[in-house]
Amino acid sequence: MNIFESNWAKTLSFFTVFVVALAAVFNYLENSDTDEIPRMDLNAMEENYRQKNRTCFILGASGETGKALLKEIVERNIFSKITLIGRRQLTFEDKAYENLVQNVVDFEKLDEYAEAFQGHDVGYCCLGTTKAKAGAEGFVRVDHDYVLKSAELAKAGGCSHFHLESSKGADKTSSFLYLKTKGQVEAEIEDLGFERFSVYRPAVLLVDREESRPAEWVAQKFLGAFSSVFPTMSIPITVVARAMVVNTLKDGEKRVEILENKAICNLGDKK
Ligand SMILES: NC(=O)c1ccc[n+]([C@@H]2O[C@H](COP(=O)([O-])OP(=O)(O)OC[C@H]3O[C@@H](n4cnc5c(N)ncnc54)[C@H](OP(=O)(O)O)[C@@H]3O)[C@@H](O)[C@H]2O)c1
Repeated sequence: MNIFESNWAKTLSFFTVFVVALAAVFNYLENSDTDEIPRMDLNAMEENYRQKNRTCFILGASGETGKALLKEIVERNIFSKITLIGRRQLTFEDKAYENLVQNVVDFEKLDEYAEAFQGHDVGYCCLGTTKAKAGAEGFVRVDHDYVLKSAELAKAGGCSHFHLESSKGADKTSSFLYLKTKGQVEAEIEDLGFERFSVYRPAVLLVDREESRPAEWVAQKFLGAFSSVFPTMSIPITVVARAMVVNTLKDGEKRVEILENKAICNLGDKK
């Protein structure tokens, strides 16, 4: 190896160590202000919640998070009635799903389907599309307009606890359309004044997606492989779903709460 190659190798090693150290510092800073979730007796909480005889609806139950969320909710049997609201009828083989109610709606004319949103205590929203799939306008239509209108109808229909799956980095002042749209819809739903509004801001979702999304696949592979160095940059979809359910069981929380990726991991790790 000549002097030039040796210096280049040293510079590269130094740079790699520097980047990993920086990631570790950012990770520490991001985690250090996260409250530790107290130990919980989940079985007792589930039983307590079951006694309340509450009902729920799920928007986006055909999507990856929605499917995982529905599975958690059905398995834990915490609601007396579960309604799926979506643009198409879903079929389930498992007998455990036979009591689900399904309301098929036209999201372009949601006002005509106000009845579908009536009488649910809890609402979960896992709706969403991508700019690649729907174009910029179509993305805003789904991730902002459909989500906000659904929340308005749910509030008018008596829903007291609304859960919104948003995204890490959501910020209504962002210059990125994705983050800005997510931040705007969070803020507008907050203004509706639900008794309780829970916002989840997961990082890159780790899931074997049915649909092909090459950019997401590359991000997942990279972040999945380095999840111990970058634990706040990705999250398994099952953990998000479990966190949404465990958080539902925790009555008496703040009126508006924003759960960042680390807080979702803490809650979703509970068995
Ligand atoms: N992917 C990530 O890494 C990531 C990270 C952070 C946050 N998020 C956010 O998390 C949320 C859930 O993500 P996901 O990956 O679980 O979602 P997903 O698998 O893409 O599912 C999206 C859901 O929205 C419905 N939907 C999409 N376009 C629609 C339309 N035009 N009209 C009616 N319904 C429509 C889909 O219904 P159909 O089945 O009928 O299409 C499906 O139920 C999204 O808001 C996403 O932005 C994602």
